[in-house]
Amino acid sequence: MCGIVGYIGKRNAYPILIKGLHRLEYRGYDSAGVALINAQGQLNIYKAKGKVAELEAYASDKDTTGTIGIAHTRWATHGEPNTVNAHPHYSESERLAIIHNGIIENYAVLKAGLQKEGYSFKSETDTEVLIQLIEYTQVNKHVDLRTAVQLALQQVIGAYAIAVLDKDHPDTLIAARKGSPLVVGVGQEEYFIASDATPIVEYTDKVIYIEDEEVVKLSTKGQSTKGQSTKDEGIEITTINNVQKTPEIKRLELSLSQLEKGGYPHFMLKEIFEQPRTLADSMRGRVNVRQDNIALSGFIDNKERFMNAKRIIITACGTSWHAGLIAMYAIEEFAQIPVEVEYSSEFRYRKPVINRDDVVIAISQSGETADTLAAIQLAKEKGAFIFSICNVIGASIPRLSNSGCYTHVGPEIGVASTKAFTAQVVALTMLALCIGKEKGTMSEEQYLHVVRALGQIPDKIECVLTQNKRIADFAKTFTYAQNFIYLGRGYNYPVALEGALKLKEISYIHAEGYPAAEMKHGPIALISQEMPVVVVAPRCGTYEKVVSNIQEIKARNGRVIAIVTEGDKMVSKIADYVIEVPETEECLTPLLTVIPLQLLAYHIAVVKGCDVDQPRNLAKSVTVE
Ligand code: G6P
Repeated sequence: MCGIVGYIGKRNAYPILIKGLHRLEYRGYDSAGVALINAQGQLNIYKAKGKVAELEAYASDKDTTGTIGIAHTRWATHGEPNTVNAHPHYSESERLAIIHNGIIENYAVLKAGLQKEGYSFKSETDTEVLIQLIEYTQVNKHVDLRTAVQLALQQVIGAYAIAVLDKDHPDTLIAARKGSPLVVGVGQEEYFIASDATPIVEYTDKVIYIEDEEVVKLSTKGQSTKGQSTKDEGIEITTINNVQKTPEIKRLELSLSQLEKGGYPHFMLKEIFEQPRTLADSMRGRVNVRQDNIALSGFIDNKERFMNAKRIIITACGTSWHAGLIAMYAIEEFAQIPVEVEYSSEFRYRKPVINRDDVVIAISQSGETADTLAAIQLAKEKGAFIFSICNVIGASIPRLSNSGCYTHVGPEIGVASTKAFTAQVVALTMLALCIGKEKGTMSEEQYLHVVRALGQIPDKIECVLTQNKRIADFAKTFTYAQNFIYLGRGYNYPVALEGALKLKEISYIHAEGYPAAEMKHGPIALISQEMPVVVVAPRCGTYEKVVSNIQEIKARNGRVIAIVTEGDKMVSKIADYVIEVPETEECLTPLLTVIPLQLLAYHIAVVKGCDVDQPRNLAKSVTVE
């Protein structure tokens, strides 16, 4: 995690860097810092604990001039979040400065070696070790900065996206990546670097995605001023072993309005309300209701791999893992292929059996989650076919995959995932339907019902959203609670997990998601008046059994909030609060039942005064393991 941003050009770098940091704050917000080289050749570093706003306040009376600079927003890994550990870090002589996203795993060995050479360290970070190593190499091997960076990175084990400044060369910025994302923006006589394209979008739509173990040298000397040229003299890309690469400039598909709150108090609420549109976008050109058909190009081009698959392994983290669990129900029901759903962090380390005829589906909003990336690397090495469901176009996971499907919901900025989740479920359902149809494992009738019902989902979500005010009202009643239980069955068991995760993430209330029938094997002991129980009980599948579970809760004085199908009679009589969702096919119910749970978590967090978009200790993109 951590967000990095850099600028070199003719403008004052500071405002560009600060704006960029605000956009990247979703990646971490423990501390922030900036380094600038001013016209006198001084390298100034300013840092502050906390959010970017603290840095701005601190730097308000400082010299923030300079047309070259780098900046960082941190999610602490090595060393507590304080000013000393905040980035940028100086080298020993204070001639160089670095920002870093990632982890240097062998930093202790490197540090010990440098200490023997007389280097001292001010912070506890692995990053400071890297800048000292770069300076040591520069001085002792008498090489230029780029070569020093290359040589130093050859010794590094771990992940990095870095940017380095040298005050003796204010016309050059060096950046490199391995495992952590890095994008270069190419402007007119100016360049930008960032962890993603959001800090760049308002200045240029020309970007270069830097690959692993590549080092980019950006220089204002000799840049082509033609603007339209695809060759740019100011950019040189090499590998860390100094092999020359040709920069490939791509057009950015991102607009500024997608990055703004659009009148909503929080990004999370905006993103919840965007879901009717984002799901229509996810289905556009894929679900053709008039022709009763689904066309998913990532599937069509690779049909054979799916037809021959003896098993599908789904790997993901967090909310994306919950989408994977829902997909397990759909793929097994429609395509009758055994599915295993794995936490990427477990999968990558547990020596899994992976066969050449396995299909591995990676789900990731950001497309950068380190564990998921490592999991598919492993599966790819073993010959499995990798299909990814991602939101961020051009991210590492889709690039490493053999095929995939983008969710197309636009940037998701709230740290708690909402619109990305529903789009993942839609993408996976489309895939399950494509496989099922092709294999002939589902009836034509069932296929048509689900395709048609999918097309109606955006309007039905619109309907659920009209209950926002009611949910906001009764959410106030529950802010006293210290614990919540969420129950669901079948397709809605993962929804219970997701509802509980949303509440934990943003309101800091402890919540457990459980399969409803498992309640009697433990959680029932927790039921009391003080423990609200959210039951996801649409009228389908094991509905009657869930009603019995609600009776069991009520018999123990529990308070029940139930998500039910419109017109429900049984649950409405016994639950304390009821939220209705329109009827749909069972496999699609999660797309409707999750909406009230997103809103409930949101409103409880707002009433509690929590920082909804940037909850403590979390980050949106987890690029460290
Ligand atoms: C973090 C985020 C979650 C997200 C998870 C997986 O924990 O806070 O919202 O679900 O990472 O991220 P991914 O980008 O791979 O979906």
